[in-house]
Amino acid sequence: MPSSPFLIVAIDGGAASGKSSTSRTLSERFHLLHADTGSYYRAVTAELLRRHVTPEDINGVEAALAAVTFTTRVTGRNAEIELSGHTIPDTEIRSAEVTAHVARFAAIPAVRAALLDYQRGQADTARRDGFRGLVMEGRDIGSKIFPDADFRFFLFADPVERARRREQQGLQDQVAKRDTLDSQRLQESLQGAVLIDGTHLTLAEVVDTIAAPIAAKFASA
Ligand code: DC
Repeated sequence: MPSSPFLIVAIDGGAASGKSSTSRTLSERFHLLHADTGSYYRAVTAELLRRHVTPEDINGVEAALAAVTFTTRVTGRNAEIELSGHTIPDTEIRSAEVTAHVARFAAIPAVRAALLDYQRGQADTARRDGFRGLVMEGRDIGSKIFPDADFRFFLFADPVERARRREQQGLQDQVAKRDTLDSQRLQESLQGAVLIDGTHLTLAEVVDTIAAPIAAKFASA
């Protein structure tokens, strides 16, 4: 009997485009490890802010990065980042302060380089822990982290709708401003990806659209 394939699903898209809810639901449906790379950039930002490092201080950023190690704690189906053995609380990584700074820190090449191999390594974590694959969400997953992913999706949603979603969640977030800072990465990850406009779709509809080809691939194995 052929063994089930191990599938890598890349989901890129702008701030508040529905990536996290979609990825979480897919991880449950197919027993995939879920890696939210935005939370990794947020954790690094929180650490840099704790150390009072500014995005202009590249030497300070590099020194801080050299002083921390990145490991993973798998909680349920979620691959959480640990910095020197500790996770950073969700309240801190989702705080207004981290949200306001994260795109600036994420634009620094040293920050991106520090997370590159770590993110690729999540495929090994998923295999080791018996998952059927990995669903990774972010801005450059299909372009830089896993350009050979089995599936590459790009989630789009109208900025007005995205700002409304964040407000409903009680979160302060200038989604359009962050997208401007992230725009080059977004352009690159859009190339060759399947584009899904979720502006007028429910979460269930977005998930069903993405899930159909994944289910077909598992079924054909
Ligand atoms: O998905 P999010 O909004 O939580 O991401 C937070 C920030 O991290 C976002 O403004 C850009 C950055 N990011 C990135 O540059 N590359 C990724 N793969 C994921 C996030």
